[in-house]
Amino acid sequence: MCGIVGYIGNKQAYPILIKGLQRLEYRGYDSAGVALITDQNELVVYKTRGKVSDLEHFSTSKDTSGTVGIAHTRWATHGEPNDVNAHPHYSQSESIAMIHNGIIENYAVLKADLMARGFTFKSNTDTEVLVQLIEFVRQTNEVDLFHAVQLALTQVIGAYAIAVVEKNNPDTIVAARKSSPLVVGIGDDEFFLGSDASPIIEFTDRVIYLEDDEVVRLQRGKEPRIFNLNNVEKSHEIIKLEMSLSQLEKGGYPHFMLKEIFEQPNTIRECMRGRINVDHTSVAMSGIIDNKEKFLNAERIIIAACGTSWHAGLIGEYLIEEFARIPVEVEYASEFRYRNPIVHKGDVVIVISQSGETADTLAAAELAKSKGAFVYGICNVVGSSIPRMTHSGSYTHAGPEIGVASTKAFTAQVTVLSLIALTIAKEKGTMPKEVFERYVAELASIPDKMEETLQVSPYIEKFSRIFTYAKNFLYLGRGYNYPVALEGALKLKEISYIHAEGYPAAEMKHGPIALIDQEMPTVVIAPNKGHYEKVVSNIQEIKARKGRVVAIITKGDTVIRDMADFYIEIPETEEGFVPLLAALPLQLMAYYIAIVKGCDVDQPRNLAKSVTVE
Ligand code: F6R
Repeated sequence: MCGIVGYIGNKQAYPILIKGLQRLEYRGYDSAGVALITDQNELVVYKTRGKVSDLEHFSTSKDTSGTVGIAHTRWATHGEPNDVNAHPHYSQSESIAMIHNGIIENYAVLKADLMARGFTFKSNTDTEVLVQLIEFVRQTNEVDLFHAVQLALTQVIGAYAIAVVEKNNPDTIVAARKSSPLVVGIGDDEFFLGSDASPIIEFTDRVIYLEDDEVVRLQRGKEPRIFNLNNVEKSHEIIKLEMSLSQLEKGGYPHFMLKEIFEQPNTIRECMRGRINVDHTSVAMSGIIDNKEKFLNAERIIIAACGTSWHAGLIGEYLIEEFARIPVEVEYASEFRYRNPIVHKGDVVIVISQSGETADTLAAAELAKSKGAFVYGICNVVGSSIPRMTHSGSYTHAGPEIGVASTKAFTAQVTVLSLIALTIAKEKGTMPKEVFERYVAELASIPDKMEETLQVSPYIEKFSRIFTYAKNFLYLGRGYNYPVALEGALKLKEISYIHAEGYPAAEMKHGPIALIDQEMPTVVIAPNKGHYEKVVSNIQEIKARKGRVVAIITKGDTVIRDMADFYIEIPETEEGFVPLLAALPLQLMAYYIAIVKGCDVDQPRNLAKSVTVE
């Protein structure tokens, strides 16, 4: 949801900014732009509709000199994605340039006021309003850029991560955040800015995560200084990043999505490392153990999340209810936050988010906290907003996920939820010892079974070609596999633009069966656990209507194998862990269909990885 980069130091800024934008392109790719204070002391802005590669093309043969600059890759909110609405935006006098990730909610009021004072606007963006406001405040109050930013932000309602440069001030970048992420990288006599650490890690592993309502002044040759909007200086902790550069590269794969699908055996091993003991008899999730009483006394658990993370939450509901016998409700964070939900003091609210920055999930967590609930986060991005504001939590340790369609983060979330369910079950005594140990040993074997599952990739690549004609897909599953059906359908929609719906298999008869014909393929997740016979009946009903069936089956199941048009075998596992295996062929199917259709799988249209606006 827009990516921000900044650099000030001794090196040429432009190549660093372009590289940074490429790393952040997953956050938005409607347009890209850069502002530099050149060696000639000019403040130049180059920006264009399209991707970072279009910006590079656009800037060829322009003056890209200078050792200070800011850059932006956009996911449009206010104003269509075009050259004019692209960031950075100039102020009226073109002496200030600014980039912004977020939404200024009261921009219309501010804009009307500025227009009445003679300001004119080139774009439809809320960002241009803020940069004009900064110039207005700077002129009328005769304050420097830093204080102008501080004062202007006191008038703003909304979310922002901004970076600002000024023509006659080539030794300074001013940046600020509220509800949108911003990281400062500290190098040797140089500073970096990024929406996350990915544009920074190549240069330094020392970072500061800015907090809400903080404004930072980055000045050549000086220490960074951070103040709040009331000009009170804030102390800051320098954090050492654990990320490595190779995690941000494609590593020989044609796309990040395919790389991330194949990484899953290892990400799940990482996710379980230190949490399952070596002889696979015990589980310890420290976040749960440290807050044992909260979980043991909870009358219910509420899980709130969005998109794929919400699907993981649904699987979490099945796992926690079955293993630990605590009632669980799963909510879309966007609904939960606005419907005045009943949350009691003793409730535990689990929020799940890959990015840790999703605006709705963050707001749901804040609401739950304000109502006295104990809020537990399950996040992937270390140091992101959600883990910093929750009472406790667990990281998924899946490593950076760059492909916009979530894959490895999903299975890591389900793994963490499995570990949580098992930990509470052990503490509560809701599972006989031998059953508990059988489950733990089975969970530990999942990475090897994932490796086996991924071997079907060439077969899926081959048969997926047949389905590129389809305009609609149905995905069916029961029990634990109903959320997997939802997730499979979401993956296909996102990257191949084919309409797909996930349904509980038994619901087919209550409506969707009317759609079934030769043109609409149905993917059925049909392992030999759970309600096997009932799913077999569903497949027969589809076949009777000449529908084509792709079945995900347990290895050796000859019954469904003979009924389905195509089948994909997954290894046998416990019912609760089937989603960890069944998700993989569905991810591969979506990937290969999208590839044959010529779609951009890593950067599907209209989407962004990190949804930091509502
Ligand atoms: C789907 C996808 C989205 C995210 C959703 C929540 O592939 O990636 O549906 O799952 O935007 O994002 P996080 O998990 O970062 O809160």
